[in-house]
Amino acid sequence: MSEKSLEKILSEKVLKLEASPTFALDAKANELDVELKKQGDYIVRFGIGQPDFNTPENIKDAGKKAIDDNKTKYTPAAGISELKEAIVNKFKKDNGLDYEPANILAGIGAKQVLDTIMRAFVNPGDGVLIPKPYWVSYTQQVVLSDGVPLEVDFKEDLKLDKDHLKKIIADFKNPIKLIIINSPNNPTGAVYSKEELEEVAQICLENGIYIIADEVYEKFIYGDVTHHSIAGFSQDLKDITITVNAVSKTYAMTGWRIGYCAADQAIIKQMSKIQGQSPSNPCSIAQWAAIEAMEGDQGSVELMRNEYEKRRNYVYDRLKAIDGIECGLPEGAFYAFPKVSDLYNSRIKSSDDFSGQLLEEGRVAVVPGSAFGDDRYVRISYAASMDKIVEGMNRIEKFCKGL
Ligand SMILES: Cc1ncc(COP(=O)(O)O)c(C=O)c1O
Repeated sequence: MSEKSLEKILSEKVLKLEASPTFALDAKANELDVELKKQGDYIVRFGIGQPDFNTPENIKDAGKKAIDDNKTKYTPAAGISELKEAIVNKFKKDNGLDYEPANILAGIGAKQVLDTIMRAFVNPGDGVLIPKPYWVSYTQQVVLSDGVPLEVDFKEDLKLDKDHLKKIIADFKNPIKLIIINSPNNPTGAVYSKEELEEVAQICLENGIYIIADEVYEKFIYGDVTHHSIAGFSQDLKDITITVNAVSKTYAMTGWRIGYCAADQAIIKQMSKIQGQSPSNPCSIAQWAAIEAMEGDQGSVELMRNEYEKRRNYVYDRLKAIDGIECGLPEGAFYAFPKVSDLYNSRIKSSDDFSGQLLEEGRVAVVPGSAFGDDRYVRISYAASMDKIVEGMNRIEKFCKGL
């Protein structure tokens, strides 16, 4: 059947849904890479946000042991009790947050946990506040739940514009259920200070808006910056905050697919119902590996953090030295978000054009800012080896000079 005739039978929702641009770009970069490798060249991959490190050995061993011990059956929908205990301990140790296992849900990566939150909260037409620039899946997950993504503008410092936030809240006629605060931020690398978070949180408290605190990059912060968990500020805020995290980035475990959240027990109960119907439970083997990740030796996390910090410094210095590019110093995560719009010309009129040409001519994959809600920027992931970063930055510099 042709795609066109299928459109009559498929849901309007799925037809409206945008494919993940980072996954699409990576697929294109992959294709070109295969071609170029035949000629002895390659694409430098700064696209997908994925640690280039391997999962640490102790974690892999725990996964292998889980298989040998036949821990390969269905598990409770929200995760095995041993994993929930490990997550409770993690929140206490790292974030000073007191929870019980009934406050915890584990899912298939932070992405699926976020999707479950949307389904639990959003009625058709409800608003979800999404500060720009945003991680690509937030808006589309809201669309999947029949909600309305409400994009909040950002200021020069790449932090949320509070006046715009208040205006949207005042103007939107339907209920606004949630806001997503992502710090350290993908794509900007910005980390919110305690004061900034408190201001936003206060607005949410006053308006009955629940907060999703997406903290998946909390371990990767640089210089003297500190990460703050909103749920730790007061009991009132803890009551309205769902803190989301994952082992994916922290332990280089993106493929294992374990994410989790902590929230009021009544919220977790409803989310567990959703998970019990779809998709049952996160992979049993990966759950055991995640326990080792959180409870075993943490040395690998600091090694990775150190390495990312060196790369962050290098990428930032190189970007600053390129005429026509502006870039703030990323304080966390593993992304730089340079503004490239001053380089646009008759041939390159958008971040899609810029990224497309950079891929074809410059042989470097970056993600266009349009995917994150701002066409003036591109995102560079520096989760790549230092050799690749040096080569990639040389290529970007040459490409920009040629514009
Ligand atoms: C801000 C943010 N939240 C959530 C996720 C999803 O993480 P996971 O791989 O655990 O699903 C990502 C992944 O790129 C991310 O950047």
